[in-house]
Amino acid sequence: MEPTIHLGTAGITESYRAFGDREARGVSPVYETWAIGVSEDTAVADLLATLPRGKRQPNLVFAAARWHGAGGTYDEFRTTLLEQWPDVRSTILARATQTNEASRCAVLLPFLVELPQPLALLEVGAAAGLCLLPDRYSYRYNGRIELDPEDGPSDVVLPCAISSGLDTPSRLPDVVWRAGIDLAPVPVSEDDACAWLETLVWPEHDDRRARLRAALDVARREPPRVEAGDLLDALPSLAAEAPDDATLVVFHSAVLAYLDAGARSDFIDIVTALPGHWISNEGALVLPETARLASDKVERGFVVVVDGEPRAYADPHGRSLAALDD
Ligand SMILES: C[S@@+](CC[C@H](N)C(=O)[O-])C[C@H]1O[C@@H](n2cnc3c(N)ncnc32)[C@H](O)[C@@H]1O
Repeated sequence: MEPTIHLGTAGITESYRAFGDREARGVSPVYETWAIGVSEDTAVADLLATLPRGKRQPNLVFAAARWHGAGGTYDEFRTTLLEQWPDVRSTILARATQTNEASRCAVLLPFLVELPQPLALLEVGAAAGLCLLPDRYSYRYNGRIELDPEDGPSDVVLPCAISSGLDTPSRLPDVVWRAGIDLAPVPVSEDDACAWLETLVWPEHDDRRARLRAALDVARREPPRVEAGDLLDALPSLAAEAPDDATLVVFHSAVLAYLDAGARSDFIDIVTALPGHWISNEGALVLPETARLASDKVERGFVVVVDGEPRAYADPHGRSLAALDD
């Protein structure tokens, strides 16, 4: 065997074990089993090592295997992979990992409603644009406070625990304009693109998959505009289209980690030069303003930052919002 294959296989073994131990453990028993299985299976690791480097990550490989029918056990995954490798490989090469969590609207809402209304929302890294629709979902804060759109409860209900040091919103925002930018927008009207987005949700996370499906249905009724492009190039011109009589809010969640440090700094320069407000919902280590807030307590946690000021810790999937001194 060629030495490069040996090196690639060792890398696969190591990275899949790390994924199983650190990312999947306690979150997805199926993915944990598959990842540990790959790390102990030279034949499968050899196969995955033939993929281009950027296409070897467990999230992509596992979703592609499920796309082609892989079930829950490691043997089922292995059989699908080995017997249908040309098809699984084509799917891996043709597609990418992506998520869109409407539930993140629950942690953005308190900060959207405190701004002068009406709002012009501009989301960078919008994916399918589901977070551009905060006024079309229902919210249940601390199981008590119920907020619904004007025309009644939404099929998308977002539960969120909010800590006592923070204001719980008492209304939905008034959104008069909305638009997004994404390197690879997910067209909500295309069944194949939506089905792939659903496949990327981890196997046991049925609640997230059901919420994604319902949010895609909501979005399909009046699809949000999401322009294809790099946020650095497209932001100024799209922001210039926002109506003058609305408050422009540029926001993003789980996006800046995809940018290198230089691009992040360029983005901050661009966004802070725009009129209006900027809301960031990202991992604590992503922005210099929040790096000091990273701690074991908020491992994998996000921080909501408004106009450069850290305001709250947020669960990455929008399930809770906590005061910084909690
Ligand atoms: C993890 S997803 C988050 C999607 C959405 N913000 C949410 O919270 O559900 C990150 C998104 O950022 C997009 N993205 C990454 N880098 C980008 C860039 N330079 N310009 C525009 N979009 C980008 C990706 O295509 C992807 O759709």
